[in-house]
Amino acid sequence: MASTYELLLAPLRAAFDTLEPGADPVLRTSEHGDYQANGVMALAKKLGRPPRDVAREIVDRADLADLASVEVAGPGFLNLTLRPTLIQDQLSALLGDDRLGIEVAPARTIVIDYSAPNVAKEMHVGHLRSTVIGDALARMYRFAGHRVIARNHVGDWGTPFGMLIEHLLDVGEDEAVASLSIGDLDSFYRAARVKFDADDPFKDRSRARVVALQSGDVETRRLWKILVDQSITYFNQVYALLDVTLSPEDVVGESHYNAMLGAVVADLDGLGLLVESDGARCVFPPGFTNRDGDALPLIVQKRDEGYGYAASDLAAVRDRVEALHADEILYVVGAPQAQHLEMVFAVARLAGWLPEHVRCEHVTFGNVLGADRKMFKTRGGETVKLVGLVDEAIERAAASLRQRDNGLDGEGQQRLATQIARAAIKYADLSTERQHDYVFDLDRMVAFEGDTGPYLQYAHARLCSIFRRLGAPWRPVHVTFGLDALQERNLALALLAFPEALEMSFVTFQPHRLCVYLFDLAQRFTAFYDACPVLASTGPLRDERLALCDLTARTLSIGLSMLGIDAPEQM
Ligand code: ARG
Repeated sequence: MASTYELLLAPLRAAFDTLEPGADPVLRTSEHGDYQANGVMALAKKLGRPPRDVAREIVDRADLADLASVEVAGPGFLNLTLRPTLIQDQLSALLGDDRLGIEVAPARTIVIDYSAPNVAKEMHVGHLRSTVIGDALARMYRFAGHRVIARNHVGDWGTPFGMLIEHLLDVGEDEAVASLSIGDLDSFYRAARVKFDADDPFKDRSRARVVALQSGDVETRRLWKILVDQSITYFNQVYALLDVTLSPEDVVGESHYNAMLGAVVADLDGLGLLVESDGARCVFPPGFTNRDGDALPLIVQKRDEGYGYAASDLAAVRDRVEALHADEILYVVGAPQAQHLEMVFAVARLAGWLPEHVRCEHVTFGNVLGADRKMFKTRGGETVKLVGLVDEAIERAAASLRQRDNGLDGEGQQRLATQIARAAIKYADLSTERQHDYVFDLDRMVAFEGDTGPYLQYAHARLCSIFRRLGAPWRPVHVTFGLDALQERNLALALLAFPEALEMSFVTFQPHRLCVYLFDLAQRFTAFYDACPVLASTGPLRDERLALCDLTARTLSIGLSMLGIDAPEQM
């Protein structure tokens, strides 16, 4: 089915087009009327005519008679009020639509680079945002009908592996596996580091080991793989705990691109893009300069002949375009890597590896802060383990559940506590505009009131309980949506706006937009539920209200699932 938004937009777009080919209106839900169309002012400017005149002409030309009444407001806004018949038809169509008005898009291939922890290093709060935002985007794109290829660009290569392998040999393989498999990654890493800094023979062994690793020495590779496999097993436990869709097949770490690095350098050289600078081989993409205005290099091969982070990222772009046929590549990576990624994209474009039609986007995000508004750390000043955070959230959720009487047994209660904890953590992250920092405040996050994940879950659970109390299965037969009460109409309009909420999220790669929508929907439901008795009403009115409840429950459930959040039926 066509969404309400599309139905309104099409005739407006056609009318705009008759005045200026290609001119586009922007349509959004609004308190003034039901929808407001913008874009008249820009069009009028182009035409050199008074905006209100242009607005009136659009109203005359747009074929909206069956859909909405239109009013010209302010300097040239169009306020649209939906016709009751349109609302009726659209809601009836939604009742029979599993996708709630979200059409299946013509499939594009979207590669999403996210999470990307480093081997033999703990997953800490710094990986939370990439993992949670990336996974939400992956789920949203999949639901919209796209082919999503997740790429977990794990840091599994580079000079630290020399000391890590030597440390592994020192402690013994079994010992090392035992401590890594329980996720004791940081102390392993730290112990290796301490020796490296203090012990010269160890340092020499480590350096020799890096050379052996790079030259493909079989035994060294075997030891390296132990570190990689153990770490990935551990990362997967964290993903399972968080309910993140990344699987072991999505791990395509830096080492994967080793075999392609020679070609990257040779081809850049062949294209005449390589410049020798201080013994390193670099590309200077135009437009990148430091504060003094000097051109900035992207270092592809270091002075010691080794390849760096940039080289594997170049190979990765190439691989994603050539082998995966990506139409779009999203990098959900922290803001500090902005310049690195922009330079990689620029060099890939220069080299012809990233054709113009392939969109490449750095989806940045801000920091997670502690209560003191500084980087989130433990009291001892250490980085906060991701598992520790989730465990703590589960404990809080379980504690607040113990004060409720929801009729669940111990096991059900524990499962629910986990679902609530994930919702709390993910929603707090996703509901912040991703470029902003946010304060990690578990008490606020797990609360059932306010703009929180558990609040949305609770709204869904309340809806489910209405249908449970109904006693018999409810099937919409022929529902008439009179929408006499204001709260009913408000709720109905929000239900119709689900497709554009998702669309808006895609335009800006902001799951935040979907969060804002769902929170607004839940609030409208609460207002409706306070004012409009459902089970106590009778006849067609009861069916109308049950239908609104059914649609709200399904919208919340699908919307939350796109954010990676479960919608339990009982809380
Ligand atoms: N492992 C890197 C880090 O921890 C992030 C990798 C991001 N992805 C990429 N293609 N560079 O900083």
